[in-house]
Amino acid sequence: MDVLINVFVALHIIGIASLLGGFLTQMKAMGAGTARFVPAMLHGALTMLVTGIALVGLNQADDQTVNNVKIGIKLVILIVILALVYVRRDEERVGKGEFAAVGGLTVANIFIATLWT
Ligand code: HEM
Repeated sequence: MDVLINVFVALHIIGIASLLGGFLTQMKAMGAGTARFVPAMLHGALTMLVTGIALVGLNQADDQTVNNVKIGIKLVILIVILALVYVRRDEERVGKGEFAAVGGLTVANIFIATLWT
């Protein structure tokens, strides 16, 4: 079970790389107001959701404690990210505020995941 959990943590991290990496490639464009939500961001956010839910199930099946408040907050933040990216996925330009919000919420979730032990 440990190996399976670690595989899903790795997939979870690949999801972060895709979501945050997509954001970082657009930072210069964001400054100019021409950033867009690239497909990597949507796919990364979806990967986070699927792997995150799988990790909750795997940890529970393995009798490991899951911090429900922490996971609940991460889930709500990810749903906001996913909603913003999904709704605006076909728009060629996304406002600076909205784009920055997705990057900021992603970074916030990373710190919640790592600092809340
Ligand atoms: C942008 C969204 C997210 C980010 C950046 C994120 C980040 C992370 C990181 C960095 C870890 C590894 C931390 C560690 O093992 O100490 C982790 C683990 C985990 N994540 Fe996420 N996550 C996100 C969304 C979610 C969602 C939506 C769920 C569940 C519905 C979830 C469930 C979990 C679980 C169960 C673990 C392993 C147990 C733990 O360390 O809490 N994550 N996440």
